Amino acid sequence: MRHVVSLFDLSTAEIEAIFAITRDLKAKHATGLRESILPGRVVALLFEKPSLRTRVSFETGISHLGGNSLFLGSEVGFNARESLADFGRVISQYVDAIVVRAFRHETVVELAKHCTCSVINGLTDYSHPCQGLADLYTLRELLGKFPGHKIAYVGDANNVARSLTIGCARLDLALAVASPKGYGFDEPFLARLKREAPHANLTFTHDPAEAVRGAAAVYTDVWTSMGQEAETERRMADFAGFQVDARLMALAKEDAYFMHCLPAHRGEEVSADVIDGPQSVVVEQAGNRMHVQKGVLTWLLGRE
Ligand code: CP
Ligand code: NVA
Repeated sequence: MRHVVSLFDLSTAEIEAIFAITRDLKAKHATGLRESILPGRVVALLFEKPSLRTRVSFETGISHLGGNSLFLGSEVGFNARESLADFGRVISQYVDAIVVRAFRHETVVELAKHCTCSVINGLTDYSHPCQGLADLYTLRELLGKFPGHKIAYVGDANNVARSLTIGCARLDLALAVASPKGYGFDEPFLARLKREAPHANLTFTHDPAEAVRGAAAVYTDVWTSMGQEAETERRMADFAGFQVDARLMALAKEDAYFMHCLPAHRGEEVSADVIDGPQSVVVEQAGNRMHVQKGVLTWLLGRE
């Protein structure tokens, strides 16, 4: 039994194994085939924050695999009505896996400690591994083999950026991250990256132009994530100059792809002409959330 709380939980070989399953399932899905790989399996979806992509892509993906999902909102009292230990031990009696979206990363770490079924992180303030996997899978489809390519992330070094960074380190894709001063990665994360992936080609800067030069894809995310709403005004000022617009895209490789995990705020982290323009692959990226999560569930549960 394995958890996916962070992309650090998966080795390079395991990510490649998930991608191989994903490729197969996605090709079958395109022909209309829905293989019943997880009949009778039940996955709980436990969400403390709103979601379109994560919730719906898990629910539909689980249906395709012949399993069932249970969406659990606030009425189950997660992290409120009883201890995480009791919650985890009990829910593990009923379901085969839990997808959990929580405000605090520690909530998911603590829950996983007490669960005897797999826990999959569906986003916390610190990481978004399912997004990272879908991003890397999308890039693999677009770029083929990674060595020789570089991508750029411009904006807040947040949950999405952390998972993207670990994924790039694991799969040998060069990444440059440009964030305003005070919004870069925390030291413990950088130290772990260095420990786990000492040869990864990662650079960190405060200059968006420097980061995107030569990039095959430019990625950004919102400046104010869920749970940070009180900081919106300060962040809008601090991120001035970090919008991904046509001028910045022009510094990347010709025809570089534009990526965003969505939801997006046009006119803030990205201009409308870029996200709605021909270089944008945000819809394909969102579509791959479902295919990759089917790969993750099949990898986690299909062999038990
Ligand atoms: N990208 C993403 O996780 O979207 P949702 O918040 O809609 O799930
Ligand atoms: N960084 C964003 C991602 C949403 C999918 C947030 O946490 O709100």
